[in-house]
Parts: sequence; structure tokens; C-alpha cells
Amino acid sequence: MRVVSTIQEVREQVKAWKKEALSIGFVPTMGYLHEGHGSLITNARQNNDKVIVSIFVNPMQFGPTEDLASYPRDLEKDSAFCKSLGVDLIFHPEPEEMYTKNFCSYVDMDVLTKELCGLSRPLHFRGVCTVVNKLFNIVKPDRAYFGQKDAQQLAIIRRMVEDLNMDIQIIGCPIVREEDGLAKSSRNTYLSQEERKAALCLSRSIKMGQALVEAGERDAEKVIARMQEEINKEPLATIDYVKCVNGLTMQQIEHIEGPILVAIAVYIGKTRLIDNFMME
Ligand code: PAF
Repeated sequence: MRVVSTIQEVREQVKAWKKEALSIGFVPTMGYLHEGHGSLITNARQNNDKVIVSIFVNPMQFGPTEDLASYPRDLEKDSAFCKSLGVDLIFHPEPEEMYTKNFCSYVDMDVLTKELCGLSRPLHFRGVCTVVNKLFNIVKPDRAYFGQKDAQQLAIIRRMVEDLNMDIQIIGCPIVREEDGLAKSSRNTYLSQEERKAALCLSRSIKMGQALVEAGERDAEKVIARMQEEINKEPLATIDYVKCVNGLTMQQIEHIEGPILVAIAVYIGKTRLIDNFMME
């Protein structure tokens, strides 16, 4: 497994692989890898000749008061993890490699980016779209893998790829959870012991909402109210949002039908966590 930090090194390697007609699976990450990333990598490993993982904490997708500086980083551990899963190349650029001094081009999107997380993180998805676009241009993957835990991000990437005619297959992979239900996230490391327990209100509320919809409840407001009630029982939790939206457009719905996404964002102390369930 190679670990490289320049765009040129990736380009040269990709060129050599393309010459041999080898397919490339790509897993973009911000590092501090966990089993959730592991499932993306394993999926990529099974379906491509070569697997590239990028590890880049993208400054552009963090707001001015967000956790860019404190975002956890551990390249050594991440490299060992990638190696154990059969990754061929890690791309780990410095911010200056990705954003040169006069950088001023962005990829942005209407509608989808203005809902859910976009409301409290107004420039977040512009940063995500821009960096993913850049990474796609550098890595030129056949397939790229994203977690369904970031359901809005996944919908946005799918839209971007379709709207901009990118010849890349986007593959969404299911949420991976801890044994007690908490969705795996690099940000879970911010939680104190007490907060870690409190954070279970997210998966409890998701489970409850899902059970209600599965039992036939079609009134979105009722589902949301029950989920909010569950979260509000937890004193350390502050709801950012609990919403039921169309799974493709991210627009809020009142009646549950078609592909839906029920998504929540909750602060546990200062840590903002997300979770969701989707239904066809
Ligand atoms: O999901 C993430 O970790 C990031 O948003 C991504 C897709 C790697 C872009 O920085």
C-alpha cells in the first residue's frame, strides 16, 4: 500500500492503472477511520481492481465556529486500518496541496443543500461538493463509496454526479452501528462517558420512528413528535432538527409515501451528532 500526499503522485499511479484497464474504487474520508469507513472500503475492495482512500480534513466544509482544529486525526492508525483491508493507495494531501493561494472556484447546489444540515451549516455542502469534485478529478474513479449515515450528503453527491454528467457510479452503504445502537462516527470520540450514554437517545428515537412507519403510520408530524419526545427525555440532548423529507429532494413532507428520509441532528453537550432511517 502506498501513502502519497501530492496530486501528481496520485495522477501518475492512476494513469498506470488505467493503462492496464484496471477499475478504481474510491472512498473519500476525513480520516480517523472506523468500522463505518471499513464497510465502504470492503465494498470497494470487493468490486474494483484497485482501491484508493483519501484522508483529508477539508477546511472548506467547516463553519468558522465548527471543529476543524479539534477534528480527530491519526494517520498512522488509519494507514494500518487501510492496509488490513487491502487498500492500494492512500491520498493524504495538506490543505495547501488542495487549495492553492488564489483558489476561487466552487461547486454549489440549490434546493437539496438548503435543507436539514444545510440550515445550521450554510456553507457546508458547498465545501463538500467542491472537494468531492476535486477528488473525483484527481482520482478518476469508476465507483465511489459513501455512507448512508450522511444521507443528505449522499443525495447531494448523487445529484451532482447526475447534473454534471460525471461518469462515476455512486454507491451508498448502510449505517454501521455500535453494539448498543449508536451510529459510528469519528465525532463520537468527543463524547464523555456520560454523554456517550446520553447519545443513545438518537438511535432510540430512530428505532422508534422506524417502527411507527413500519406499523403503518403515515402522518409525518406524528412520527416526528414521538421521536422528539424520546430525545427530549434526555437532559444532555438539544435537538437541532427532527425531519421527515422526500428521500430525493430533501423537501419536507406531511404524508409519508415514496422514498422518504427521516433524519435527525442532536447536540449532546457540544457535540452535534446525526442519524437517520430511509424507506422506499
Ligand atoms: O463524509 C465525509 O467524510 C466528507 O464529507 C467527505 C465526503 C470525505 C468530503 O470531505
